[in-house]
This record gives sequence, C-alpha cells and structure tokens, in this order.
Amino acid sequence: MAFIEIKHLTHVFKSNDEKKDGLKALDDINLNIDKGEFIAVIGVNGSGKSTLAKHLNGLLLPTEGACFVDGIKVEDSEEIWKVRQKVSMVFQNPDNQIIATIVEDDIAFGPENMGLPREEIRKRVEFALQSLHIEHLRKFAPHLLSGGQKQLTAIAGAIAMRTNCLILDEPTAMLDPQGRIAVMNALKELHEKYNMTIIMITHFMEEAMQAQRIVVMDNGKIVQDGTPEQIFADRQKLRSLGLEVPLSVDMAAELKKRGVKIAGNVFTAEQLAAELEKIVLCQ
Ligand SMILES: Nc1ncnc2c1ncn2[C@@H]1O[C@H](COP(=O)(O)OP(=O)(O)O)[C@@H](O)[C@H]1O
Ligand SMILES: [Mg+2]
Repeated sequence: MAFIEIKHLTHVFKSNDEKKDGLKALDDINLNIDKGEFIAVIGVNGSGKSTLAKHLNGLLLPTEGACFVDGIKVEDSEEIWKVRQKVSMVFQNPDNQIIATIVEDDIAFGPENMGLPREEIRKRVEFALQSLHIEHLRKFAPHLLSGGQKQLTAIAGAIAMRTNCLILDEPTAMLDPQGRIAVMNALKELHEKYNMTIIMITHFMEEAMQAQRIVVMDNGKIVQDGTPEQIFADRQKLRSLGLEVPLSVDMAAELKKRGVKIAGNVFTAEQLAAELEKIVLCQ
C-alpha cells in the first residue's frame, strides 16, 4: 500500500445558485505516492492543485472517492488528528502561518498543543532549527524575517510535529529569488537526509525539475505523471497545457536539433553548462 492513496477523487464546489451546476474542480483523480518521494505538482491556475492538496489533510472532503494517508481514510473525522500528525501543509503566504512573537515559540506551538513535556518540546525545536540551519533566527520576531526565513519557520513548525510528509502549496510564490532557493534547498535536504515525503505545488519549472517526479494537472485531471526527464521531453505538450518550458530545456533541445551532441537527460542550466563544457574542452 502506498503512503498516500487517492482513489477516484472528485470534488465539486457547490454553486451559490441552487439551480446552477457546481464547479468540478477535481475530476476522478487517481494517484499513489510512496514514502520518501519528492513530487512537484504543476498546472495552470485553476487546474485543481490546491483543491487536491486540501483533501490530503481533511481541509476539504471528497464529493466522490477517497484519500488515504498511511492507510487512514482522511474523511473519517475521528482519525483526522492522526492524519495531521503524518502530513503538514505549508501555504503560500508566510504571514498567515506564524502565530507567536518569537521564532522558537512559534516552532514550539504545535508540540505544546500536543501537551508534550518541556524537555521533549525543547529537543524538537532544536532539531527543527538545526535541520533547516536557522538556529541563528531562534530569538527573532517573525516580522523581522525575510519571506524565505518565514517559510523556513513554518516548515520548522511542521518538523517539530514530527510529520514526515510536507505538502507545500506554492510556498515560494511570494518569495524573492534568494528566498526561493533557500526554501528549495531546505526541502531537498529534508528529503535526502531524513527521507521526508515532499509534495510541492509550484508554478516555477526550475523548482519542479528538481523533484523526482512531476504530476501535471489540467482542468481537474492528472494529465501527466513522470520523471522530469519524461515530462520535459514533450515541450509541445507542456506548452499546450499553458505551461512554460525552461530556457535550459529549450536550449538543449535546439542544440540537439542542430546536431550538437548533448546527452539525453539534460534539462537544468547546470547540466547543460556541463555538457557544453565537455564539448568545448574536446575541441
Ligand atoms: N472555495 C471555492 N469555492 C468555489 N470554487 C472554488 C473554490 N476554491 C477553488 N475553486 C475553483 O476550483 C477550481 C480549482 O481551483 P484550485 O484548486 O484553487 O486551482 P489551482 O490551485 O490549481 O490554481 C478553480 O476553478 C477555482 O475557481
Ligand atoms: Mg492554488
């Protein structure tokens, strides 16, 4: 059994007007996610990404179908606290997620609500700060943090809850480039070092291609599901879905067309640079 199982999930938002049909935001979604996967979910605005994410910790309930987290049916309300210990959500706006007036108190908030002993809370906060390399921010007031640092604080709060699955809904959308890189690096490290399951919704292709697997949504359906190599191989398909193709992917494909011997799995700028370097050095 997969860690997350989504079976025939359909979600219809009811219309305010009784006579009108509702809006089908999710249309028969089937998706399995294993423990330790790093998945990016992409798709144009309104394709259903946030609606899907909200089903994974019970913020929305299915119209049809079901979601299971570690075998627990998410809509069973008696079990929801168990689900929320296994998956944490991080949202786009970091300002809406921080409650306390000092970073370390904010990270301690969840464990305190669980009624854990002081010493255990202290240990968890320490671990969360260390694993994200933000020990130096512990006494900061959140309003003095950058957007990226705020998101890291929000992620630290999830880590202090010992959840080993993070679902992040466009966590970098409101950040500057530096903040985006900091959050992305933190996620990659949590995945590599602690085998955390990461599900990241993003509209930045450069971020999506750093995941192990990309799920593409369109109009409430999953239209593609594969490795970054597989997804970026079909540039036309991505464009037809309204998605952007990263410049490095375009460049690699155009160079290949012109007979330059670029390896098949090149899609990041770094990989392309390395390939071009090899070619230049061989001349
Ligand atoms: N609370 C809501 N009530 C009614 N319609 C909604 C609500 N939330 C989202 N929708 C609609 O559902 C569709 C999917 O939205 P959403 O999941 O937010 O897409 P995405 O996150 O991919 O941009 C959109 O058409 C959106 O307008
Ligand atoms: Mg969204």
